[in-house]
Amino acid sequence: MLTVFYYVLAFTISAFLALMKWNNLRYSREGMPPGSLGWPFVGETLRFLTQGPDFMKGRKLRHGSLFKTHALGSPIVVSMDPDINRYVLVNEAKGFVPGYPDSMRKILGTNIAEVHGAVHKRIRGSLLSLIGPMAVKDHLLPEVDEFMSSFLHNWDGKIIDLQEKTVQMAFIISMKAVVEDEPNSFLESFKAIFDKMALATISLPFNIPGTQYYRGMKARGKVLTILRELIAKRRASSATHNDILEKLVRNEDGKYKLDDEEIMEQIITILYSGYETVSTTTMMAIKYLCDNPNFLQAVRDEHFAILQKKLPGERLNWDDYKNMSQTRAVILETMRLASVVSGVMRRTANDVELNGYMIPKGWRVYVYTRETNYDPILYEEPLTFNPRRWLEKGLETHNHNLLFGAGGRVCPGKEWGMLKVSIFIHNFVTRYRWEEVQGNKKLVKFPRVLAPEGLHMKITKY
Ligand code: HEM
Repeated sequence: MLTVFYYVLAFTISAFLALMKWNNLRYSREGMPPGSLGWPFVGETLRFLTQGPDFMKGRKLRHGSLFKTHALGSPIVVSMDPDINRYVLVNEAKGFVPGYPDSMRKILGTNIAEVHGAVHKRIRGSLLSLIGPMAVKDHLLPEVDEFMSSFLHNWDGKIIDLQEKTVQMAFIISMKAVVEDEPNSFLESFKAIFDKMALATISLPFNIPGTQYYRGMKARGKVLTILRELIAKRRASSATHNDILEKLVRNEDGKYKLDDEEIMEQIITILYSGYETVSTTTMMAIKYLCDNPNFLQAVRDEHFAILQKKLPGERLNWDDYKNMSQTRAVILETMRLASVVSGVMRRTANDVELNGYMIPKGWRVYVYTRETNYDPILYEEPLTFNPRRWLEKGLETHNHNLLFGAGGRVCPGKEWGMLKVSIFIHNFVTRYRWEEVQGNKKLVKFPRVLAPEGLHMKITKY
C-alpha cells in the first residue's frame, strides 16, 4: 500500500515538474529576462495577487529589477527600475502600447487607452481642451470651489465615514462638470450604476450570470443608455449650458470633433479616470494630516493666510491655488507614500528590446512604480511621511517621479485632480478639527488603497 502511495507521489511530482518545464519552454526565447512563468495557464497569479508587493520584492531579490512572470492570463515582464520605467512610458512608438487587462478594456470600451497614433491625438486633444490646465484655470476652478464649499457644509458634531464621503465627492464633482443641471437624485442613482461598472474593471472576464463581470457588463449597457438619453436631451434643447456635455455636443471650436459613440466613451473616461485616484488621495491626505499634526498646522496656516486676504464669501482664484505649496507637497507625498497608483500596464505591439533583453510581441510590461516610490536612494527615509521633500526644487518634475505617468500618456487630468484635493483640504482644515474614531480596521494598500469598513472620523468645528 505504501509503495503505491510512493509511486503516485513520484508520478505527481514528475508531472508537476514536467508541466512547469513545459510552461517555461512554451514561452522560452533567447535573451529573455530571468524569472519563472509558474504553472501552465494560471502562472503565478495566485501569489501575485495574494502576496502583492512582497511577491514583487521576493522576485526582485532573486532576479533583479527586471524579471518575467505569468499572471492574470498573460506572460508579464515586471520592471522596478526607475530608468527602465520611464523608458517604457516615453517609448510607445517602439511598441510599448497600453495593455490593460481584458476586463478593463471590455468594461470601459474603446476609450483613450485603446487608441493610438492620430486617433489618440484627437481624443487626448479633446480631453485636454475639456479638463486640461487651461480649462481648470478658466472654467473648472470656480465650479470646484463652489461644490466643495457646499459639500463640506454642516459636518460639525458628526461622525463621518471619510472613505464614503470622498468617494461621493469624487464622482459627483466630475458628474456636475459633465452635466451642470441634473438633480442630485439623478446623480446618486447614476453613481450606483456606474459603481457596479467600475467595480468589474478588475475581475475575471467571464460573462456568466452571477459573476461580477456579468453585472459590470449589464451596468455598462445601462450607463450607455443613460448617456445616449442625455445627449439626445441636450441636442433637443435650445438652452445653453456651461458644461462638458455642451462642449462635446455643440463642439463650437470644431477642432476635436467626436461622434456620439466617442462622446459617450469620453464621458466614461472622465468619470472613471478621475474617480478612485481623487477619492483615495483625498482620504489618505486627511488621514496622514491627522497622524502628523505638525504638517497639519503648516497646511492650516497656509489656508488661513489665503482666507485672510479675502472678503467674506469671496471665492478662491487661480493665484490662491498656486499659493497652496504646502498643500501640494502634502498631496504629492500622500500619492507617493500610499502608492495611490501602484503601476501602469503596457503590451508589446511587436518584439521589442528592453535593457538588452528581448520581450516577445503580445507580452505585458508592468511598469511597477510602487517600489521606486519607496526607494531610499530617491527618497530619504522613504517610509516616513515628509511632505517637505516635495518643496525641494525640481522633485516634482524629476525623471523618477512617475506619480502621473510620463510620455505621450502623462495624466491630462493632473491639475484638475490636484485642484479637487487641494480645495477639499482648504475647506476641511479651515472649518473643522477631526479625530479618528477607535475601531477603524487597518487600511489595505494593495491592489487598491482601501479602508475595509470605512474610515470613521469625529468632526468638530474649528
Ligand atoms: C489626482 C489623481 C490622479 C492620479 C494619481 C492619476 C494618475 C495617472 C497616471 C499614472 C496615468 C498614466 C497612465 C498610463 O500611462 O497608462 C494617468 C493617465 C490618465 N489620467 Fe490620470 N490621474 C489622476 C487624476 C486624473 C483625473 C482627475 C482625470 C480626469 C479625467 C484623469 C484622466 C486620465 C486619463 C484620461 C489618462 C490617460 C491618458 C492617455 O492615455 O493619453 N486622471 N493618470
